[in-house]
Amino acid sequence: MGCQEESLLLYFALEDPRKNYVKMRKMVDELLKKYAPISDQVSRDELRIILTEFAKILDAEIPGDVVEFGCYKGTTSLFLARILRKTNSGKKLFLYDSFAGLPEKSPEDLSQAGDDFQAGELVATKRELVQAFAKNNLLYQSFGPIIIKSWFSDIRDDQLPEKISFAFFDGDFYRSIRDSFAKCAGKFSSGATIIVDDYVNEKLPGAAKAVDEWIMGHRQSVAKFWTEKSLGIVHLK
Ligand SMILES: C[S@@+](CC[C@H](N)C(=O)[O-])C[C@H]1O[C@@H](n2cnc3c(N)ncnc32)[C@H](O)[C@@H]1O
Repeated sequence: MGCQEESLLLYFALEDPRKNYVKMRKMVDELLKKYAPISDQVSRDELRIILTEFAKILDAEIPGDVVEFGCYKGTTSLFLARILRKTNSGKKLFLYDSFAGLPEKSPEDLSQAGDDFQAGELVATKRELVQAFAKNNLLYQSFGPIIIKSWFSDIRDDQLPEKISFAFFDGDFYRSIRDSFAKCAGKFSSGATIIVDDYVNEKLPGAAKAVDEWIMGHRQSVAKFWTEKSLGIVHLK
């Protein structure tokens, strides 16, 4: 083997395996600079955390599609779609919402911190979401989006992907988060990430309760759980 070939091999051996991930972090920063959130339901800091976790999934090539339960006007959905368009990962984006706002609270959702978030609040229509995607030239892409109007508990199995690599659950209430987990049962890939908004939100105690119950029942599959801002983040083994 010549000297030149040897140094070429050494170059590839030493190439930073996180190079792609660094590139994707840069892409997340650029997208967050370029585009504004279109609603107040998720902050820029939270978006950065969600999208960085998503970049890790893409970088690690974890198989399976992407789901968002509770997409509302589409702030997070649009950013996920922008990343999917840029990266050509072959993953599909499934978005679920009642498009009729929040359902009734259950006793688990009652909070001493106040009576915010009532049934029927946070309504965005499916048309509004579709228009937001159209305005951003993000409709009819290879990743979808596949938009399903349904209460989470009524989503049929044929409306869900077979495998999930990344899930964002943002249904606010106990039953909404519990049903999101239930609908994804048996679909999470090894190495998948699940992010639940409002895990840290004293006004929405039901979200954390549903997550804690799920983790208790799935301890064997959970590699890591932690919180950042309002988010609860689960990495699966
Ligand atoms: C906080 S918003 C979601 C914000 C969105 N993720 C974003 O990035 O802007 C909550 C959404 O969840 C939906 N939702 C809550 N519980 C639901 C349920 N059980 N079934 C269907 N949709 C639900 C509401 O209609 C609402 O649009």
